Amino acid sequence: MRTSVKNLLNSATALDSVELAGWVRTRRDSKEFSFMELNDGSCLKGIQVIIDLGTPGSEEVGKMNTGAAVKVAGELLESPGQGQSWEVRATEVELVGGVPDDFPLQKKGHTPEFLRSIAHLRPRTNLYGATFRMRSRLAYAVHRFFNERDFTYVHTPVITTSDCEGAGEMFQVTTNDAGQAEEDFFGKKSYLTVSGQLEAETFACALSNVYTFGPTFRAENSNTSRHASEFWMIEPEMAFCNLEGDMDLAEDFIQFLVKDVLENNEGDLEIFAKFVDKGLRQRLEGLVGGGFERMSYTEAVEQLIVSGQKFDYPVQWGANLQSEHERYLCEEVVKGPLTVYNYPKSIKPFYMRANDDGKTVTAMDVLVPGVGEIIGGSQREERYDLLKAEMEANDLSLKNYGWYLDLRKYGTVPHAGFGAGFERLLMYVTGMQNIRDVIPFARTPGNCEF
Ligand code: 4AD
Ligand code: MG
Repeated sequence: MRTSVKNLLNSATALDSVELAGWVRTRRDSKEFSFMELNDGSCLKGIQVIIDLGTPGSEEVGKMNTGAAVKVAGELLESPGQGQSWEVRATEVELVGGVPDDFPLQKKGHTPEFLRSIAHLRPRTNLYGATFRMRSRLAYAVHRFFNERDFTYVHTPVITTSDCEGAGEMFQVTTNDAGQAEEDFFGKKSYLTVSGQLEAETFACALSNVYTFGPTFRAENSNTSRHASEFWMIEPEMAFCNLEGDMDLAEDFIQFLVKDVLENNEGDLEIFAKFVDKGLRQRLEGLVGGGFERMSYTEAVEQLIVSGQKFDYPVQWGANLQSEHERYLCEEVVKGPLTVYNYPKSIKPFYMRANDDGKTVTAMDVLVPGVGEIIGGSQREERYDLLKAEMEANDLSLKNYGWYLDLRKYGTVPHAGFGAGFERLLMYVTGMQNIRDVIPFARTPGNCEF
């Protein structure tokens, strides 16, 4: 029975007989012994294995180089060395998979760009191993958050015919790209979804509180450190809920996730704090202890204007907030996370509920220092006539979106929801600066390796 390195390092007692397996990180030999650090990805740290050069299997020790896969049987003993509680004295070793000299991860300190080019090997580094363990833990925390609040998990489709955000940034799905849409696989044009929201709304209008969590796709040609063509989104949707309730949930959600990471990823957080962002822990603790500021879009624009700060994109009521504006608001104006609400109608999608001022809609974005927009959501337009008019104004076919309008015809209710970018959340809790480094295999314009 193989024990994980994590469990061995956390053992309460010494153990007579253990089996472990993993990949060699480092090895150093003396006359009689070989000292090997073995890592199996179960935690950041590896465990030291001491091999007496007379033990069965030790004839192959010379081939157990950095990157080689090795199995060990032995005893778990208290380690006399500093900073390490346990080590393994091998009674048997086995070279499972050797490694030639060209293994690319010999040295420490590779650049993120180089590691992206070997994305099939980078999970074997400390930093990326920690990143992907964090990703897994965070996904679990997402489900826990909603489960504890009685939200039903809905699997919205990946292939769809609707363009939720109305931005036309969709990847087409076709088996017949030269032919007519009617002759294509689904008998009409179909796409990879940009958001599960519209379908989630149908379930909220039946099961009350729901969420979807899955991959979403955007064919926008933006080569930034925060945009990916394929990313994961968490989208809760709540019936009988307004903008206020939506913002409350979004803020609680982020606090819950950050608290979970602080409590459960101690070991992995260490490496981000050390190599990526020295202020990480303080920033995360600050978010859990403090609250979110809230500010209307109009106030936010005023703040940016009075700041006198020079931006690449001019600040003007009616224009979208750019990432530089969002970050300035968080990092300089409120010095923490910020929820901005009531955006101009002209820059937001058709489904957002109109405010009485005739100019703004009940949109909200949650912005955090270092990342900018992490969540975008709104209360939805639940009034049939207003939604229909908005759909017509946006050239949405009432035939194709009739089902969506039906929700406003049969027992309509005020409802609201949001979308949280899973990778943006990960960037926030790890301090990692580029979205390509928190998703296993990044898809960005011109890049679809692996
Ligand atoms: O603000 P967005 O476009 O909102 C929606 O799609 C709504 N339908 C969500 C809803 O109300 N159910 O996207 C939501 C979030 C953004 O705040 C951002 O965190 C993330 O999704 N996001 C991206 N993440 C990575 N790469 C991209 N290209 C992203 N586009 C949006
Ligand atoms: Mg948005």
